[in-house]
Amino acid sequence: MKIAIDGPAGAGKSTIARLLAQRLGLRYLDTGAMYRALTLAALRRGVSCADEEALLRVATSMDLEIVFDPETKGNLVRLDGQDVTALIREPEVNANVSLVSSHKKVRDFIVALQKEIARQGCIVMDGRDIGTVIMPDAQWKIFLQASVEERARRRQRELQRSGHAVDLQELAEQIRQRDHFDSTRAVSPLRKAEDAIEVDTTSLNVEQVVERVLSIIKGAGEDV
Ligand code: DC
Repeated sequence: MKIAIDGPAGAGKSTIARLLAQRLGLRYLDTGAMYRALTLAALRRGVSCADEEALLRVATSMDLEIVFDPETKGNLVRLDGQDVTALIREPEVNANVSLVSSHKKVRDFIVALQKEIARQGCIVMDGRDIGTVIMPDAQWKIFLQASVEERARRRQRELQRSGHAVDLQELAEQIRQRDHFDSTRAVSPLRKAEDAIEVDTTSLNVEQVVERVLSIIKGAGEDV
């Protein structure tokens, strides 16, 4: 079974995909974590996030490991031997990852890795292009949506937990910009696959979204 979870920033993809994988006993890959780890590696090496060739060199030389974390049941990300799972969610990475992920050569490299992981068998993957590019053959394609305001509140809570106080309006503006950038970029833009089912998570809690997606997968759900 292959399940693709796509959607914009803050729609709840990672949380939902991780819990779904847990409930269904499947592997899980947070594909955004790979672009985030590359962004962190580039920032650490002083490489410009606008320099496609230099980014590709970073991508091909960094030692990136994404493994199952038995504690969180999610992905543990190791970059050059160091656990960077929390560091890749820091504001500096947030501010640069969209640009890094927009370069064709960078995407070609990361997409090939992700397709190879998908080829190895049953999995839940979340990202922007899973249903359209990485696993167009997925049996289930879910596109999670939520209002900009709700997504900004979620991001604010996430950042507060890691000790960052960020203004809500500022976050909403960043999300609008990121949505625009991710959905208008030339290579693999964020878009709903034609055969994806859209789920609006604005007024649902995590458990309700998981239940809704499970009911869709079990055949009891309709387009929502
Ligand atoms: O889901 P996220 O916020 O961790 O993703 C970080 C960035 O990576 C986001 O700006 C878009 C990009 N991304 C992508 O282009 N394709 C993916 N499959 C996953 C993420």
